[in-house]
Amino acid sequence: MPNTVIAGNWKMNRDSAEAVELARSVKVGLTKVVGAEVVLCPPAIFLIGVRDAVHGSPVKVGAQNMHWEDSGAFTGEISPVMLSGVCDYVILGHSERRQFFGETDKLVNQKVESALQHGLRPIMCVGETLAEREGGQAGSVIERQVRVGLADIIDITGLIVAYEPIWAIGTGRAATPEIAAEIMGGPIRETLRVMFSTVADEVSILYGGSVNPGNVASFMCQDPIHGALVGGASLQADQFVEIVKLAAAAVK
Ligand code: PGA
Repeated sequence: MPNTVIAGNWKMNRDSAEAVELARSVKVGLTKVVGAEVVLCPPAIFLIGVRDAVHGSPVKVGAQNMHWEDSGAFTGEISPVMLSGVCDYVILGHSERRQFFGETDKLVNQKVESALQHGLRPIMCVGETLAEREGGQAGSVIERQVRVGLADIIDITGLIVAYEPIWAIGTGRAATPEIAAEIMGGPIRETLRVMFSTVADEVSILYGGSVNPGNVASFMCQDPIHGALVGGASLQADQFVEIVKLAAAAVK
């Protein structure tokens, strides 16, 4: 049974004092919560501050992106070697990276492979646009993103996949739990099984896109859904803590 994982993607928000304060509040709010892996993904510049703020608690820290090479002439980039001393997780292939920074399935593949080799747990994001969904291509798009994103990777131990339909991100218009479960139990899980056999069943698959305290339990009730990648609601400590508590309580 894959672990329940709730990850907060802060995106490009908060200043350094606010980041530490938010992390501290989450830590305090979750002292008694068990049953879910909780990950905070602040902007890279705040990773160390947030790591220190949650020290001594089960709350973990993740990056929002990374380069695939260990080091070199890549101005502005951060390598897996640099991250691996600081955090345990890294979001890769988020739709905003694909949309605004030209990340392709192939590039995501290089990053996922590199993260796994460096002992980081990749949260690989996949998701279709509204036009793709309305054109009946959601399943094939997701299947391709998983297949190419994980191509030629031998050992996926530690991998997490997040299904984030692009039309549901930051719009307040979450997918229905049934739509999410259909993609997660279908194209995502089935492609993982074809590629990785029984190891595929250890991969936690998260839903992302307008998750909030009011809808998280309905997602968690679905068998194929093991947690959430939370954007906007992760910027409010009380909301994020509530989401974690509700998700942990809803675990099948
Ligand atoms: P949202 O973002 O919860 O604000 O929709 C989710 C994400 O982009 O990971």
